[in-house]
Amino acid sequence: MKKILVIHGPNLDLLGTREPTIYGRLTLAKINRMLKIQAKKAKVALVIKQSNHEGAIVDLIGRAKKNKFQGILINPAAYTHTSVAVRDAIAACGLIVVEVHLSNIYSREEFRHKSLISPVVCGTILGFGANSYTLGLAALLDLIRTK
Ligand code: DQA
Repeated sequence: MKKILVIHGPNLDLLGTREPTIYGRLTLAKINRMLKIQAKKAKVALVIKQSNHEGAIVDLIGRAKKNKFQGILINPAAYTHTSVAVRDAIAACGLIVVEVHLSNIYSREEFRHKSLISPVVCGTILGFGANSYTLGLAALLDLIRTK
């Protein structure tokens, strides 16, 4: 069975109450449930992690291939705009990676307009709220299937 790693970056544990006009009212648990249902239908195994710590995220990405994952779905959250370490980990991991964002980072503050992650992933889906995750997972599964 194929294995996908989902990584939620910093502050995404606060979804539901965190700036709901920007990020919506769904909790992370609800989003994870949606992804699990989608994965079950597609007959793939999903491991879901959330961390507020850059090094922990780097470790997850760095060990993903050894841990037999075929792909990674990641919302790097604020590290999107700051983390060379997360970017380098993705570039080195040798797996198919899809980046997602709940909000449209290009319609927000200027400091969010730059993603250090986008150049090293297969594709990015953003601006569709929680649907960015389901669309991102569908795209990732498709890429893995046709690889
Ligand atoms: C985010 C966008 C980032 O700019 C922000 O720092 C986040 C969430 C999103 O999903 O829209 O924490 O990645």
